[in-house]
Amino acid sequence: MLKVEKLVVRYGAVMAVRELSLEVGQGELVALLGPNGAGKSSTINALTGLVTPASGRVVLDSKDISHVRTEDRIRAGLTSTPEGRHIFANLSVGENLRLGAATRRDPAGVRQDIERFLSLFPVLSERYGQAAGTLSGGEQQMLAIARSLMSRPKLLLLDEPSLGLAPKIVARIFDFIGELKAQGLTLLVVEQNARQALRFADRVYVLSSGTLRYDGPPARLADEHGLFNLYIGG
Ligand SMILES: Nc1ncnc2c1ncn2[C@@H]1O[C@H](COP(=O)(O)OP(=O)(O)OP(=O)(O)O)[C@@H](O)[C@H]1O
Ligand SMILES: [Mg+2]
Repeated sequence: MLKVEKLVVRYGAVMAVRELSLEVGQGELVALLGPNGAGKSSTINALTGLVTPASGRVVLDSKDISHVRTEDRIRAGLTSTPEGRHIFANLSVGENLRLGAATRRDPAGVRQDIERFLSLFPVLSERYGQAAGTLSGGEQQMLAIARSLMSRPKLLLLDEPSLGLAPKIVARIFDFIGELKAQGLTLLVVEQNARQALRFADRVYVLSSGTLRYDGPPARLADEHGLFNLYIGG
């Protein structure tokens, strides 16, 4: 479904991503792991078009989208939930959800999807009219993911969904990510919490200093003498 070829991201003299190639197949959950500063967010932002790569190609469903605008990538089925959630704190839960559907032209379908997420996350229903900034961290992450899903993506990119959340909440978020996968959504998940990410991952890429260090099944990663500890830890 997604093919990334020799992606290079630079910020001035900083080489954040060095000729990274990766693939995500239909229905797969692929984990992108690595320490702070590895280039994970730069990769995600290059895929959504928020960052312009120095070189390389991004191919979605056999179509080169390297030069396509972010909103047209969303229309093509590629959406991300960025690191740090970025919900609109002063807008209500409902307004945040509706903004996630900004690229859609089917108001009835949008209303239906909002209903679906409210029944899926009862807490969002209880807080529907409340400013999103008043939600707890875990609730905000649920809202951020639900808002991304409002665009009806085929491929969802999640950048550190567990960031700053308590272990119990993290487990719940990953349970939900597992459910999304079971429903057929294709996912690329960036995480520092490798243990959680590997619960549902079909394949793993490990990045360090912008360079790919590992590409393979989760099981083998644990065997790669020390790679797990060296680049991921814990
Ligand atoms: N806008 C920017 N301008 C300059 N340098 C940047 C910018 N964004 C990221 N970098 C640098 O690029 C490198 C990769 O950053 P990136 O945010 O992609 O890493 P990351 O793997 O997502 O890290 P983290 O786990 O901390 O989120 C880092 O050295 C970072 O300092
Ligand atoms: Mg990051």
